[in-house]
Amino acid sequence: IRETARMAVTAVVGLQWGDEAKGKIVDLLTDRHDVVVRYLGGNNAGHTVVIRGEKYKLSLLPAGILRPEATSVIAAGVVINPGALLDEMNSVTQRGIPIGKNLLISDRAHVIFPWHRAEEAMLEKKRGDDAIGTTMRGIGTCYRDKAGRTHAIRMGDLVRPDVFRKRVTEVAEHKNAKLKALDPGGELTDPEALLKEYGEYAERLGPHVVDTTAWLHNALREQKSILFEGAQGSLLDVDHGTFPFVTSSNSSGCGIHAGSGVPERAIDKMIGVVKAYTTRVGGGPCPTELHDDIGQHIRDEGNEYGTVTGRPRRCGWFDAVATGYGARISGVDCLAVMLLDVLSKLDTLQICEAYDIGGERTREFPSHIEDLAKAKPVYRTLPGWKSDICGLKQWSDFPKEARAYVDAISELLEQPVEIVSVGPDREQTVFVK
Ligand code: GDP
Ligand code: IMO
Ligand code: MG
Repeated sequence: IRETARMAVTAVVGLQWGDEAKGKIVDLLTDRHDVVVRYLGGNNAGHTVVIRGEKYKLSLLPAGILRPEATSVIAAGVVINPGALLDEMNSVTQRGIPIGKNLLISDRAHVIFPWHRAEEAMLEKKRGDDAIGTTMRGIGTCYRDKAGRTHAIRMGDLVRPDVFRKRVTEVAEHKNAKLKALDPGGELTDPEALLKEYGEYAERLGPHVVDTTAWLHNALREQKSILFEGAQGSLLDVDHGTFPFVTSSNSSGCGIHAGSGVPERAIDKMIGVVKAYTTRVGGGPCPTELHDDIGQHIRDEGNEYGTVTGRPRRCGWFDAVATGYGARISGVDCLAVMLLDVLSKLDTLQICEAYDIGGERTREFPSHIEDLAKAKPVYRTLPGWKSDICGLKQWSDFPKEARAYVDAISELLEQPVEIVSVGPDREQTVFVK
């Protein structure tokens, strides 16, 4: 990745459990692309972009929205809470950034309804200590209805008043019957009130709703440059992640084709974004998690509290077994190593290069969480650099210990590191030759 060159078709995917600072990398690359595409997830994502000290928190809107000259696309694989999307659009326009024809929303994207959140709350409660720790946005239950087909409603239905009335009447009847059986005191859906509320959303979002798949294929034909903005991370992928402690879509590179309709072979460069350490929000195993002062130090230095839910993130050492697996699943071409500055005050650093599972050493990432839960990290110890690197601009000016640390990540993941990030701002980015 050269600092200024215009790029063709690029994808940015997280290789860990989300929050790798994908938003920052996407923002950095938007001015080299005509189109920015979100292709999965929904308002479970929280992408932070800092431009000259101004902080923007984006959830459903692609980070490209901050550059109105780019077209931002919410593609077929996204699940949309229309009220949340409109709130987010308002908060962006209130800050002086116009949204008009530059935002396109897929008519194939599925719609999140209040019953999705209610069902999720019930399911999570029932799991008790074994709760997935979801963001409670109705993401998983909406994807479940999409896969089940019978009770799903898409954006294309929402903007057709007759179709929408018919669908809501049918689905609400089913959802109410189910809720009555499961939770007799639960709040039932009043279809008329819902039709009124969602009818207003439809009116406001309608002008943006198109067949984004056809639009993207035209853009490719016109040789427009496209940037795919991943959400969540490879280890949260429903097929390849730490099931069942995952999100309900293909959040690795695997999801780009399914979620956008653009074939993977159209992508020229796939950038894998990794944090220089590990974080995870919600439940599920995390072999390198630190329950000590160092874990707390990383949380404090990295401000590791969820963008969406405010939950403290679980923090630990960099896990090259898990992240290497994420890189292979996603099929990346290079790495962006983020938040390196967070490690600056530590004397020594550890990188997990293998797991010990019941006395057997392995570099394969286990497919079953029971085995992953038993995995003891085998660490490589590296010296820290103990100096401030936030303002450095040239890779050659970095302390040799910092370069060795990044080199170790590169070696273990068998990928070149092309970007290193040392702070939240656009300017705090170093392009590694
Ligand atoms: P995303 O979900 O992958 O887009 O990541 P988040 O926005 O949820 O979390 C990344 C956080 O790290 C945000 O608060 C960013 O502003 C911040 N950030 C990004 N890059 C850096 C960096 O290099 N150093 C530090 N200290 N913070 C960073
Ligand atoms: P970004 O795009 C980190 C996690 C939740 C939970 C699990 C399932 O900001 O990286 P869900 O609500 O999706 O059903 O929750 O996935 N999760 C994320 N963790 N970053 C995210 O998005 C996440 N999106 C979902 O915490 O463990
Ligand atoms: Mg995030």
